[in-house]
Amino acid sequence: MQLIRESTFMTRFAGSVVATVCIAAPAYATTPAEQLAAYAAQSGQVPQVAKGQAFFTNKHGAEWSCASCHTSNPTVDGKHAKTEKRISPMAPAFNPDRFTDSAKTEKWLRRNCNDVVGRECSTSEKADVLAWLISLKQ
Ligand code: HEC
Repeated sequence: MQLIRESTFMTRFAGSVVATVCIAAPAYATTPAEQLAAYAAQSGQVPQVAKGQAFFTNKHGAEWSCASCHTSNPTVDGKHAKTEKRISPMAPAFNPDRFTDSAKTEKWLRRNCNDVVGRECSTSEKADVLAWLISLKQ
């Protein structure tokens, strides 16, 4: 019954690999849909795609809009308004790394919202923007 013993070993081995990968995964690993659901729940409002697009594209009293660095078509690369460094697309359908780490998302939203709006973005603003970005498909 060598075969059975081997397959049992493989099952145990695979199980411990899965467990190790789970433990090693970043604590904030998530998906765009999960982040959208969390912001929507926190805001208590239904996310609005058109409002998200307007928020992202318009200026809010400061020099830059979100689009100044991410372009008004976030399915393509952006360019930092100051350093001119390339920024990969914001829409998750065009960049699978986007919105997969909630700590990263929150860190950049805090910084960027302060630059563009002069304060942190509200949870409903975040939900609207994310709903718009998710709505952009290949
Ligand atoms: C001055 C340039 C600049 C402006 C203006 C700007 N961003 Fe960004 N943003 C960046 C850079 C640089 C990064 C980090 C690099 C990267 O993630 O590719 C980033 C990252 C992000 C991320 C992280 C996405 C993720 O992968 O989780 C979000 C969300 C974001 N920006 C949203 C916004 C929104 C919303 C606005 C407007 C309120 C805005 N940004 C304005 C430069 C900018």
